[in-house]
Amino acid sequence: MIKLFKTNEEYFNWHEKNQQKTIGFAPTMGNIHNAHLSLLEQALIENEVGIISIYVNPTQFGEGEDFDAYPRTLSDDIEKIKTLESKYNKDIIIYAPRETDIYPQGFTNYLKAHQIAADLEGDLRPTHFDGVVTVVARLFEIIKPHKSYFGKKDYQQLKLIELMAREHYPQVEVKGMPIIREPNGLAMSSRNNYLSPAQKDEALALRNSLLAVSKEIEKGASINEIKELIQNLKTDKKLNYLDLKSAIDFSPLNEIKKPIVILGNYQIGSTRLLDNVEVL
Ligand code: PAJ
Repeated sequence: MIKLFKTNEEYFNWHEKNQQKTIGFAPTMGNIHNAHLSLLEQALIENEVGIISIYVNPTQFGEGEDFDAYPRTLSDDIEKIKTLESKYNKDIIIYAPRETDIYPQGFTNYLKAHQIAADLEGDLRPTHFDGVVTVVARLFEIIKPHKSYFGKKDYQQLKLIELMAREHYPQVEVKGMPIIREPNGLAMSSRNNYLSPAQKDEALALRNSLLAVSKEIEKGASINEIKELIQNLKTDKKLNYLDLKSAIDFSPLNEIKKPIVILGNYQIGSTRLLDNVEVL
């Protein structure tokens, strides 16, 4: 059964009567695509109930970013989520709260993201991750999930949420799920809607750069060789950053030590696209 709850009260009523059920939770900002559905599917596979939240969180958008333009498509989203109903035959809850449910008057529990928020995405968007960890903490507080599911597409976000959960919600397991791609290899994203077909092809340059670096690592290149390659690739001015980190704790690398994640951000017009490749 699909249930749509648009207020905390509706959710709390349900939760009170279903205390014993295991809950898997996939937070989203809506404009649902297959990558979001893959998170909810995993939640349904591993738990008795799957919950997906749809909430465009104002505190993670900076001044001049696309908060107002961000696609809000609730009725289409519900239709897409419904396609999972018969496949799993489990309760699916769509939690699409009002702003006052998330940030009630007098709300003060604003969190500061861990230090690894400082570079890459955090460099481009200085207050972004504080808003992300704040809203995810708030969602954990309301939903009380056992397991939660996040995409590796937003790798830095995933690491920051793992750190936030370890500190504030150690009872919630945080799982990182594989990147889901379009047939041409472009990582799925709600922001792909802003792109023309030609721009979607252009965006593939990001993935190609990431794959070029991972191939050299696999071939045994040294850190200096990799840094030089990255410098060369960065002559493409659309690359906002291209860097590699430890896939364990996101620390910078002084030597090639797997597991590694190579991350990039690519600018097409005013749209910034993210992608990464792990070298395990
Ligand atoms: P949103 O961009 O809607 O993404 C929701 C979840 O889907 C995130 O965990 C994201 O990493 C995952 N996701 C998006 N595209 C993906 C892809 N191509 N492959 C795999 N996973 C993908 O990320 C957010 O929302 C917000 O910051 C949120 C965590 C909901 C807090 O507001």
